[in-house]
Amino acid sequence: MLHRVAHRGYSTVAPENTLPAFDAAVRAGATLVEFDVRVTRDGVPVVIHDRTVNRTTSGTGRVWDLTYDEIAALDAGSWFGAGFTGLRVPTLAETLDLLAAGTAELLVEIKPPATLDEVKTIVAQLAERDLLARSVIQSFDADVLRKVRGLVPDVRLGLLLFRFDAETVATCRELDVAYCNPDLEDVLSHPETMAGLAEAGVQVMPWTPNDMARWRPLVDAGVAGLITDHVGELTGWVNAGSV
Ligand code: G3P
Ligand code: CA
Repeated sequence: MLHRVAHRGYSTVAPENTLPAFDAAVRAGATLVEFDVRVTRDGVPVVIHDRTVNRTTSGTGRVWDLTYDEIAALDAGSWFGAGFTGLRVPTLAETLDLLAAGTAELLVEIKPPATLDEVKTIVAQLAERDLLARSVIQSFDADVLRKVRGLVPDVRLGLLLFRFDAETVATCRELDVAYCNPDLEDVLSHPETMAGLAEAGVQVMPWTPNDMARWRPLVDAGVAGLITDHVGELTGWVNAGSV
């Protein structure tokens, strides 16, 4: 089965990394819902992509310089469309509560830097809801993955990469990751790395194929899933018998 991964939720129909985007992703047939976790100055995990709140909210400043109350007061919907005015940046807890009610799996990206205490808090919130077995925890930062592995030896990990390199397969073996998720262009241009990862038992889910014309070549290259902003279209494509 090809994983239909909703990148930051169904982020073409609702503001990325918000509860409506996650709800829409589930309704649109996502098998995995991806989102980004950062921690506020006072230690609350929230779901937001950028280092700052500037692009996706009515406020300014770095996430780790703001308290949760300051972030909760911001409008995280108006930038996307007037119909979303008043949406808040969700906490990780709110996001997990919503997704726990469905059956889609979770692709939880921990954005660096993340201290051990912050990683502990994030993992604990997954564990409290019995969601660890339904989750893949991914990061661009190998050190974050090592911290997660040290806390929960059995959880599935994903290494995010901007580019494959000569060490990719060895790094994935060392980190014992289930997934290696690179930029989509590398999947298409490095069949030898794809073969090495398959040999190592590591699955690949590239980001962010939004152009449907790329889906067939990526499937033919052996991907396990596609991390896209267009998860509804991807569900339609799969249901039409394309895979
Ligand atoms: O899940 C892959 C993708 O989300 C990684 O890039 O910048 O969108 O978090 P970014
Ligand atoms: Ca992400």
